[in-house]
Amino acid sequence: SGVYRNGALGVPMPVPRAPAALEAKARKRMSARAYDYVAGSAGTERTAHANTAAFARRAILPRMLRDVGERDLSVELFGRRLPLPLYLSPVGVLELAHRGADVAAGRAAAFAGIPMAFSSQASRPMEEIAAAMGEGPRWFQLYWSSDDDVVLSFLERAEASGCEALLVTLDTHVLGWRPRDLDHAFLPFAHGMGIAQYTSDPAFMRLAAARPPSAGAKPKPTLTAIRTLLAMTRRHPGGFWANLRSPLPRAAVETFLDVFSRSTLTWADLAFLREHTRLPIVLKGLCDAEDAARALDAGVDGIVVSNHGGRQIDGAVAALDALPGVAERVAGRVPVLFDSGVRTGSDVLKALALGAVAVGLGRPYVYGLAVDGEAGVRAVIDHVAAELDLSLALAGLRDLSEVDAGLLSSYSASS
Ligand code: FNR
Repeated sequence: SGVYRNGALGVPMPVPRAPAALEAKARKRMSARAYDYVAGSAGTERTAHANTAAFARRAILPRMLRDVGERDLSVELFGRRLPLPLYLSPVGVLELAHRGADVAAGRAAAFAGIPMAFSSQASRPMEEIAAAMGEGPRWFQLYWSSDDDVVLSFLERAEASGCEALLVTLDTHVLGWRPRDLDHAFLPFAHGMGIAQYTSDPAFMRLAAARPPSAGAKPKPTLTAIRTLLAMTRRHPGGFWANLRSPLPRAAVETFLDVFSRSTLTWADLAFLREHTRLPIVLKGLCDAEDAARALDAGVDGIVVSNHGGRQIDGAVAALDALPGVAERVAGRVPVLFDSGVRTGSDVLKALALGAVAVGLGRPYVYGLAVDGEAGVRAVIDHVAAELDLSLALAGLRDLSEVDAGLLSSYSASS
């Protein structure tokens, strides 16, 4: 590790390493509503606080004199060897942080050799991000549309774009109660932001063309939460559609609101995905060990323990606290991934110790984008990776396969 030899000292770097300083600097670069969209969580934001507090409660127990001169941070995942146990979590509407953010993040991930998960709510079509990533690994995150043709079209496009896994996000079948966005009367989708996967999709655009706005279709109950937001946005001075940033047909935005999610899904529906894609199916947003057992029964290829960064339910279990139970139930049959609250390399090490094979970065890379675009994301990945490497060495381990619960002190783990 050349952290201290490679001239890092004495050269002021634009991307702060301390998580709070990084967030503060990003905040200065963003509008209040953009920052609040990214930083905000559900309700009183207790879940989001619990996520980071759960890391603070765990403690690493360092061991000495173990020859840690050569270290290996690589992991095997979905048939690929990754240089680091990291990936970029799917984050929608990245353009709020930086112009051209999706491509910038994709290029930074490819540079580091770690996967980027393209969001269903990305600001650019997946083909464009994929093209910018060269051979870099990529995954696609699916919000399971209420329209089968849109789902099938997304699967086809993801495969054609070289995605190597399908992350199916299960915790967002309705949008959570997010006071910051409600108070700003801000829903990106109502402004034509974050719907590029849809407006670039032939199956979706056929629907939009066939269903002109104000056709009198009754809103589906699954959309109640979104309709509430829309109603508030309509009351906003300047009007709801007047704020549209791009000249998207109104029908496209309305159709998006109709098809973006499906709250009637059950475990039986997973067979539909299994039938229609050859990609590994990874369920994102599980926290319950029983759900993990059902997922295994359904034949999935991976699980992401996550609570969506606390953006969905207020007062939910911290994702890190849910991880050991899920990992124990899965017992190595499929890889368990983790996100929600990871801020540092030391956090990554703790999540690996509790059973994760790889860990998703979320808000920190969005802040990196806001501060310095592609270079900002590269810096964030670099900082987390460097601290992970140093922490592994200082804990007395050489190889991630040696990382298990024994790394953590029983003193704090039980508190
Ligand atoms: C997200 N997340 C998310 N997840 C997903 O599956 N699809 C998506 O489109 C989005 N969009 C999104 C936007 C923003 C602004 C944030 C902050 C998060 C959730 C994301 O994948 C991940 O679960 C969380 O970011 C993890 O929490 P932390 O570590 O960022 O706090």
